Amino acid sequence: MSGRVALVGAGPGDPALLTRKAVALLRRADLVLYDALVPPAMLKIARRARRFYVGKRAGRHSMTQDAINRLMVRAARRGDRVVRLKCGDPFVFGRGGEEAMALRAANIPVEIVPGVTSAFAAPALAGIPVTHRGAATAVVLVSGHAAEAYEPLLNGLEPGSATVVVLMGLGRRAAVADHLIQRGWPAETPAAIVFGAAHPDGQTWHGLLGELGRASVADFSAPGTIVIGSVVALAPFIGSEVEPVLERRRTAGRG
Ligand SMILES: C[S@@+](CC[C@H](N)C(=O)[O-])C[C@H]1O[C@@H](n2cnc3c(N)ncnc32)[C@H](O)[C@@H]1O
Repeated sequence: MSGRVALVGAGPGDPALLTRKAVALLRRADLVLYDALVPPAMLKIARRARRFYVGKRAGRHSMTQDAINRLMVRAARRGDRVVRLKCGDPFVFGRGGEEAMALRAANIPVEIVPGVTSAFAAPALAGIPVTHRGAATAVVLVSGHAAEAYEPLLNGLEPGSATVVVLMGLGRRAAVADHLIQRGWPAETPAAIVFGAAHPDGQTWHGLLGELGRASVADFSAPGTIVIGSVVALAPFIGSEVEPVLERRRTAGRG
């Protein structure tokens, strides 16, 4: 029996943004273990596979990381071709590295299949280039989860010198904005939140850094990516696949 595990990036949500390798592996899979942000349409590609949700979202853990690792090892030892399907890219805030190491430690063959990360796809689909000649020549990607992780990095940035992209940051959007403003970033710096990029109901909030904390996110159950920097102002000139949030909603969030 020689099973194996592929850690596969599902991209931001649209099945058309899956890589060809991801599609081929899904078609051949015996077992698919998928995360919260993987849309059902994508799972249909894995016609012959058993499919299990093992996701975690906003602290609601359906299965511990250890249990997921054990499940993958057991299935591969049984001879299954396992696809571990993760949103975006498996190695960008996706614990893909931990899973790969656990599998290697158990002598299970592992294949890594990169995916289109929402960190860059969400801004792109909203018409925001994260780098742009004359506007931003660098981009900084942080998780909004823990201030002790992002603050030292943001402290080292000259105000306005880079585009800042924040994943998992909706709950801490006010803290991130306040921190940047305290470090000298103008409150008028353009900012956006791209909700559910590459999903049919995706929407984008546009505003200023000083308004970010008051942006209304309650209407959205979709995940959101925060983008801060002058490149955000290019969106009207580039065009967007992600609907702008209605002005009514934006105003409602200002209270
Ligand atoms: C646990 S991280 C995983 C990131 C993923 N590995 C990637 O490369 O995109 C989840 C965060 O990614 C962002 N995200 C994922 N899918 C998204 C989408 N379709 N639109 C906007 N943001 C998304 C959100 O910030 C969300 O909180």
